[in-house]
Amino acid sequence: MLRAWYMDQEPGEPRAPHRQRPDRPVSPERLRRLGVTHRRLDADNYETDPCLKEIRRAENYTWMDIVTIHKDKLPNYEEKIKAFYEEHLHLDDEIRYILEGSGYFDVRDQDDKWIRIFMEKGDMITLPAGIYHRFTPDENNYVKAMRLFVGEPVWTAYNRPADDFPARKQYLKFLAEGTKEQSA
Ligand code: LAC
Ligand code: NI
Repeated sequence: MLRAWYMDQEPGEPRAPHRQRPDRPVSPERLRRLGVTHRRLDADNYETDPCLKEIRRAENYTWMDIVTIHKDKLPNYEEKIKAFYEEHLHLDDEIRYILEGSGYFDVRDQDDKWIRIFMEKGDMITLPAGIYHRFTPDENNYVKAMRLFVGEPVWTAYNRPADDFPARKQYLKFLAEGTKEQSA
């Protein structure tokens, strides 16, 4: 079961869980309304897993690589960790599949509140183009993740504010349509 929750407002170590008291969990359904989708896969067998193969075929995730986020494995570790945790968006979907370790993806909800998503081995997430988000390792300081992409990858991150991009406007339209549906 995917674990996600509204973050507290406490400053300090990003790697801490930052749960509110009392806890305010967020359901996968709520995340779906933000355009965030989650799947669980068999990370022990990612090289041969037919489910992964089928997802890549269906979603056209033609490109992939594997990154290890650890201070001894990732060049310019501190700099990159800092950049990952800057609130940003991309013009394409961000697709990550955790093969080992764990970390947090934070996404903004429709009211601009931070939702923290705990991702561990076997979790795959898709963040839609135009959503503001950020990433941090958790207190275990280790993540090995597959990055997937439709066609040639573009990793450009636009730090907030980045509201003038068509991808952002389209995402806001998607959110507004979801809100309309709910109140109908
Ligand atoms: C990225 C994640 C960390 O843009 O949001 O790679
Ligand atoms: Ni990103």
